[in-house]
Amino acid sequence: MYDSYFLAMKLCFFFLLLTTTLSQSQPDRFIRPLRGSNREYFEVGYPPPSHEPTPSCSHRVLHHSFANTIDSPPYTTSYSPPSRCPAPWSSVVLHFHARCKGEQYDRIAAIWLAGAEILRTSTAEPTVDGIFWNVRKDVTRYSSLLAKSNLDLTMMLENIVNNEFTGVYHVTVTLLYYNEYAVKAPVRVPFVPCPEELTFNPISLPKSRSLIQDPGSRGVNESPADLIIPISDDGRRGFWFKVEEEKNSCSQKIRIPRNTYRAVLELYVSFHGNDEFWYSNPPNSYITANGLATERGNGAYREVYVTIDGQVVGWEIPFPVIFTGGINPLFWEPMVAIGAFDLPSYDIDLTPFLGMVLDGKEHVFGIGVVKGISYWLVNANLHLWLDHESKVVHANPVVHHSPETSVERQEEFRGLDGAFDVDAEKETHISGWVMTSAGNITTTVSQGFSFKNFIKFQHKGTIKTVKQKFKAKKKVKVIDGRGESITRLKVRRRYPLRFVTTTQEFPDGTYRLVTDLSHILDEKHVSGCFAKTITNAQNSKGWIEVKGHSVVSGQASTTQNYSYVDRFSCYSRNVAAANGKIVSDNSTFVCEL
Ligand SMILES: *[C@@H]1O[C@H](CO)[C@@H](O)[C@H](O)[C@H]1NC(C)=O
Ligand SMILES: *[C@@H]1O[C@H](CO)[C@@H](O)[C@H](O)[C@H]1NC(C)=O
Ligand SMILES: *[C@@H]1O[C@H](CO)[C@@H](O)[C@H](O)[C@H]1NC(C)=O
Repeated sequence: MYDSYFLAMKLCFFFLLLTTTLSQSQPDRFIRPLRGSNREYFEVGYPPPSHEPTPSCSHRVLHHSFANTIDSPPYTTSYSPPSRCPAPWSSVVLHFHARCKGEQYDRIAAIWLAGAEILRTSTAEPTVDGIFWNVRKDVTRYSSLLAKSNLDLTMMLENIVNNEFTGVYHVTVTLLYYNEYAVKAPVRVPFVPCPEELTFNPISLPKSRSLIQDPGSRGVNESPADLIIPISDDGRRGFWFKVEEEKNSCSQKIRIPRNTYRAVLELYVSFHGNDEFWYSNPPNSYITANGLATERGNGAYREVYVTIDGQVVGWEIPFPVIFTGGINPLFWEPMVAIGAFDLPSYDIDLTPFLGMVLDGKEHVFGIGVVKGISYWLVNANLHLWLDHESKVVHANPVVHHSPETSVERQEEFRGLDGAFDVDAEKETHISGWVMTSAGNITTTVSQGFSFKNFIKFQHKGTIKTVKQKFKAKKKVKVIDGRGESITRLKVRRRYPLRFVTTTQEFPDGTYRLVTDLSHILDEKHVSGCFAKTITNAQNSKGWIEVKGHSVVSGQASTTQNYSYVDRFSCYSRNVAAANGKIVSDNSTFVCEL
């Protein structure tokens, strides 16, 4: 059992911040008006729901109603795979269904299997007539856990139900198991032969179990790991660590099998409270100088980092997911913001650092947030691939490698008006070898990002402009002892965000917010000669009139253009919504060549 390898000690130190909530700081989270008939909310993605083939087995694994769950332990049930569909599977899809009726805020939620997170999601805000939604996620990469019996399946969704907030979230989770390469696109581009052998495994070790290789269905995902070790909290309040400030150090001691030849850490993060809109937080100097009561400060740069024995080995600037009550809740009905139902997780290749942890001893894995303020929910899954032909794999000694991110800040303000810039960048290059039963394998990871954030306040702080740019690239090259390429992976991502909000306050305490927002999540993955490109953009405009945190009236329109292209299939969907209704929705599987 893998259990013996980890869970020696879990630690998370934090210092409580006294928080007073303030409504004057923009943006904020709001509760939407209760109008609207029972309808479906959705997040645009690929494959679309209509395109889901019949699985070999469909297995309902969780069914629970989250009522007044605040300050309670998470809901836990027992998981075993369906006996009719034993492992291995070609793919496994998680199908999350939720419905809710009444008045309620958006809530953050997560699902863990044996403490390893498999979904981070947030809820839509309901109406009196009720709403429902579905989330589909490919969870094939968790196959080594999904194949085990009698595991704890845990879901945390802290909700408040009282006289004012009445919405109870009813959740059903079903797993769909596929026995063959199922998800095929109806329209395929002509097959272009690959100039080199397609290799999706980091390495084909002799006599290792047969591995799944179908780029058409699974994209460039490599074969699932042999072992997944969670780097997480003890589970009493969910398995996520709650990071309340920069000094927090959330860590866990784990022992790694000595025959590990590849390690990828998958990071899950979400930001809440005073950091829910961290990308729009001004520096503390502005808040203090103007005597503002808001605690949404610390500037607009955050970086999540991962350490092994105190040494930084990975980092990420997370995609700014906007929850359904955020900025203007009318923007996100019925299509939610990018990532709101299926928050992205981030892969950090730790293979070059294996030399630090293959000694059979416990090592401390930590996660923290640079400049973070209350609060962040973070945890990680360590995906490990094992050399079944040897008990011990040797790896190179790791030299100290934790380059600082270069961060430059500029600020200029007079009274409530001013401008703030943050520019950050980082470039790193690390290489490491492991001596396996199949020979010497060298992994080289080169990566870098550039980040720019600009915040401007005008007209006595009533007009706020936020412009953020983020671009990242990563290359992972794996070669064998003869210097021949085993795998090459290239990932490029960019996620710019821009919005302008004008605030007008009325003597009766209500205020009106007019916002124009656009954000994008573009990703390109190239593995060998298999490429996958996703472009996803949303533009929203509208206004709301707000009393406290409740939207009294408003109007909004959102357009979203999504496209998915890989070597075998194309899909695009353009949707326009106005005031909660779909105005047009065009999709096609035809490739625009
Ligand atoms: C493995 O290959 C690397 C790079 O070619 C080399 O530096 C290292 O010494 C090799 N390790 C062993 C054990 O041969
Ligand atoms: C989507 O495409 C339409 C038509 O080309 C365009 O008017 C709209 O602005 C686009 N929306 C986004 C979010 O890019
Ligand atoms: C959908 O197609 C129609 C007809 O071609 C077009 O008028 C409309 O703008 C398109 N909608 C979107 C959201 O692109």
